[in-house]
Order: sequence, then C-alpha cells, then structure tokens
Amino acid sequence: MIETLYWKNNCLYLLDQTKLPHKIEYVECNNYREVIHAIKTMVVRGAPAIGVTAAYAMALAELEGENMDIAGEEIKAARPTAINLFWAVDKVLENIKNGNTAVDTAIQMEKDDISINKKIGEYGNTIIDENDTILTHCNAGALACAGYGTALGVIRAAHEDNKNINIICDETRPVLQGARLSVFEMQQENIPVRLIVDGAAGHMMQKGEVDKVIIGADRVAKGGVANKIGSLMVALAAKRYDVPFYVAAPISTFDFENNIFDTTIEQRNADEVLKINGKYISKEETKVENPAFDIVESDLITGIITEEGIKKAL
Ligand code: MRU
Repeated sequence: MIETLYWKNNCLYLLDQTKLPHKIEYVECNNYREVIHAIKTMVVRGAPAIGVTAAYAMALAELEGENMDIAGEEIKAARPTAINLFWAVDKVLENIKNGNTAVDTAIQMEKDDISINKKIGEYGNTIIDENDTILTHCNAGALACAGYGTALGVIRAAHEDNKNINIICDETRPVLQGARLSVFEMQQENIPVRLIVDGAAGHMMQKGEVDKVIIGADRVAKGGVANKIGSLMVALAAKRYDVPFYVAAPISTFDFENNIFDTTIEQRNADEVLKINGKYISKEETKVENPAFDIVESDLITGIITEEGIKKAL
C-alpha cells in the first residue's frame, strides 16, 4: 500500500489525497503552517491520519523553535470535528513536559497507529463471515490513518484470512472519499468492490444485498458517533433492514468527557457541493448547506470495534 505520510530529513511528506486515484504525488511540508494548510485543504484527511499529521506539525514547530503551546492551538484550529487532532497535540505537549521530543513522539504515534489498526482488524475479523457483503461509507482505510485502516483494516484482515468477501463503497458526496479512495484501496488489494451512489445504500439493503455495514469515526462519545455526512442515513437504513452496523475506531477517537451532540460539525465550502469537476451544477448564487459530518446515535450501532475488543456504543 502507498504510504499516507512519511518523515524524512526533518520534513513531512503527505500523499496528496485530493489528486487520488489519478495521481500519486507527495506534498513536502517544511514548517508547521504548511501542515496546517494541508489538513485544511484535505491533502491529508481521516481522523487518525489527521492526528499523526498534527503530531508531525508539532515536531516541525519544535524544530522551528516555536512556542509549542501557541503552535498547538493553531494546529488544533485546522479542523474541528475529528478528536484525534486535539488528542495528538495534547499528547505531544504532555510528552514534551515529560522530557521527550515532539519528533520522537510523532514517530512513535505513527508506528502505534498502524499496530492499533492491525489489532482492530483482528477483533473485527471475528464478526466477518464467509461470503459477506460489507458496505462502507467514506474512507476509513490506510489513507485515513498512518496505514492499514480501521473499517477497511477489518476488511483487510478478513481478506488476509482468506475469507471471500465483497465490498460496496458509497461514493460519499461531496468530496468522494468512497469513490476516489476506498475503491482505490480495495482495487490495490484485489478485494472485489462495487461503487454505488450514496442514495443507493438503502436500496441495496432493502434487496438483502448487504450483510454488514462498517464505518470509521471522527469521534465516539456518550450518545453516539460522529462520522462523514451520510453515515446517519446508512445507519437508519441498516436498522430498518436488520443489517448489523459496526463502527471501527481506535480508543484515541473516544471523547469520554463530552456528549456527542456537543461535537462541532465542520461546515465546509459551498463550492464542494455546487461544483463537479470545476463546473457549477446549480447557479453560483444557490444557497448551500455543507455539513461534513453527522451523528449516528448509539441505539443504531451494533458495536464499536477497537484495539481493546468490540465495545458497546457509549
Ligand atoms: O472529511 P474526512 O475525509 O476527514 O472524513 C473522514 C471520515 O469521516 C472517516 O470516516 C473518519 O475520519 C474515520 S477514518 C479512520
């Protein structure tokens, strides 16, 4: 699998996910402000990947001799919903206080993220049956993490265990992480995959074509899970048609302090909705709502697959 990010000669290289699947290009970040820009513009995206990237932004700030508390606040402001961003910055600050460097912390966090995802994969594989068709939304794969993936990590683990599985990816309007990234990851692994438009998920479940849904999470808290816009509609359809609905997420995505409805839902640019391939699909002046995430309530969730086992939603 192509690397989502790597650290070399005190520089962070980020795979430009806005160009996938057509181009494989890395953006070189020499200072922490370039990393913030890359997070904002979704060169790098996905909760765990944003977390590890934020840790490397802190590493660059340290090398630049910046005030780490101020840099930390700027990095935290890059995107509001994925808790991993806040978790990673706080962890770096705590480690610095304990005499470690931000660089070493970030390198360790990157390694840990991959081993945690493999553990999630191991637990997740226990709920996958032979010939399962699994529907996923957005991209909770290797590209959304330092590697391997959470929801797609479970799928990878089942595939590595030689289970015959079929995947259905929602395209995931408006940024198309499903069509551009999840389908790409599945094709790279030779895992059978079909792409559907978001509105087809209910229809596929109604026809009995989906055995399980597995998605990732940007935040897990009391009351439910925040994930990519459209996750709620998938969960509601899954409840209606008795399709088990799983979330795969590391413990670093859990917010044990707040209620999920206190999560700030990122509102993104209207052009993401108004334009396709740079062309307006509605009049330029059309009013747009573009929430990037929604909340799946706990009673819609069968289980949360973590590195510590499969847990009940909070
Ligand atoms: O806006 P994005 O692409 O950062 O949103 C990503 C998602 O919603 C993922 O499902 C989530 O971060 C989990 S990634 C393992």
